[in-house]
Amino acid sequence: MGPQVTESTGSVLCQLADIPDGGAFEATAEIAGERESLLLLRAGERVQAFYNICPHAGRALNWAPGRFLVESGLLICAAHGASFSIPEGRCVMGPCRGASLREVAVRVEAGQVRLA
Ligand code: FES
Repeated sequence: MGPQVTESTGSVLCQLADIPDGGAFEATAEIAGERESLLLLRAGERVQAFYNICPHAGRALNWAPGRFLVESGLLICAAHGASFSIPEGRCVMGPCRGASLREVAVRVEAGQVRLA
């Protein structure tokens, strides 16, 4: 038998069109054998993906499954209001200002967002 495949490199997370332009989308992926909730942020054709974990207190950023608070071009953590730039995922306001979400490499190919 060959080596165990532990990462689903290349697997499709969603369609680009699933992510509102300037907004956020939740996807799940298996990374290093763990099922992870990911946050995808989109600006035009650019998509960046992050673990759905706030750098402030480690809570999920969404307020309900798949539902994120986006206001004035920022993603706002539902727990204590940290605000993150879209699509960079950098905290620009709130309790973890200057920190960044932990990024997951993705690529956009033929209208699909895939793990890179
Ligand atoms: S856990 Fe996100 S702002 Fe506190």
